[in-house]
Amino acid sequence: MSKTEISSDDMLGLEQQQDNRHSRTSSKLGKVILGVTGAAAIGLVLVTTPFVTPALRKICLPYVPATERQISNILLMAQVSKCPGPKLVDLGSGDGRVVIAAARHGYQAHGYELNHWLVWYSRIQARIQGLHGKATFSRADLWKVGINKTC
Ligand SMILES: C[S@@+](CC[C@H](N)C(=O)[O-])C[C@H]1O[C@@H](n2cnc3c(N)ncnc32)[C@H](O)[C@@H]1O
Repeated sequence: MSKTEISSDDMLGLEQQQDNRHSRTSSKLGKVILGVTGAAAIGLVLVTTPFVTPALRKICLPYVPATERQISNILLMAQVSKCPGPKLVDLGSGDGRVVIAAARHGYQAHGYELNHWLVWYSRIQARIQGLHGKATFSRADLWKVGINKTC
């Protein structure tokens, strides 16, 4: 057999090499797809968990007596404070609809919300609706906020 002739064994070897290269490319693509899908699934769980978990609680608002600080917050809200104009505070403001509606009706409104996604959503909504500065939001535990700082 001359040097330029290719035997059937050589052909088989070449085909096998091509097959191997092809399967390596496919397995890389498979890993990329698996990685992207996995990251998307983890992201989805992270975003949705704070929305779902409060609904799973058996008792959403257990009997917890108000602390001295909470009582003073209530009294602060009840009295005429230094802030000009009518005010509203929403404790647990969710997606901000109450605060935004109040701001639209002339209130200086502020929402406290634990879920940071909802806080950002509310801020964006307030800005879109031209109520930036009138409808404001903080990520805070409603049991721990000092309402006298809200103005
Ligand atoms: C029933 S939703 C009310 C939402 C909004 N006020 C409305 O009427 O559309 C209660 C909200 O309180 C929030 N929340 C629950 N516990 C909280 C806490 N300790 N501090 C701040 N927000 C809280 C929840 O994440 C939820 O968005």
